[in-house]
Amino acid sequence: MGTRRRRIPVVAWLVVAAGCAGMQRASHVTLPQDPATCVTLRSLMRESLDPCVKQLQPIAKRDMISGDDYERLGRLAQALEDGAYKIADHPPRDSGHPLEEYYWHGGILVARANELRWACARQNVEGVRLALSAVVQSCNACHEKFRKDTDGYASY
Ligand code: HEC
Repeated sequence: MGTRRRRIPVVAWLVVAAGCAGMQRASHVTLPQDPATCVTLRSLMRESLDPCVKQLQPIAKRDMISGDDYERLGRLAQALEDGAYKIADHPPRDSGHPLEEYYWHGGILVARANELRWACARQNVEGVRLALSAVVQSCNACHEKFRKDTDGYASY
């Protein structure tokens, strides 16, 4: 009897997350319950997503984007996508809005970060800029609903 692997690719359930408001979490992901959860979400935002966007933006704006730049952009886009997946593990508490909406925003960010990564791989400048601006819109859209304390950080 071999070990049976039935891991559902994360991409599969995120596609569902993006398309379906009544999404159910994949069963292998445990929702953190204690208040420290918020701290974790905040540090994910502050230490991962924020620096990603801040490094991506100036490179994407360059007149000439070199092969090395595209590679760097691609790595940042990958980090962004990884961070976006993690969002779903740390929902905010007491936001006053349905969590389905939060997951939906998280799924949108995953999809847009993924588009960005592929545009980088194709070295398509227009695709990179469009996808990055879509990413930023998705950060802002979720913050409008779910982020209460906006001290120190304006929108992107
Ligand atoms: C699915 C919802 C969602 C998405 C998408 C999202 N965020 Fe957030 N973000 C939040 C919430 C909720 C908070 C408030 C967390 C807290 O204060 O505990 C937050 C807070 C932040 C903060 C402030 C952290 C602090 O120290 O106060 C930054 C910076 C941030 N997000 C950056 C980003 C960036 C950049 C993106 C897009 C690449 C993004 N976020 C996408 C929900 C989201």
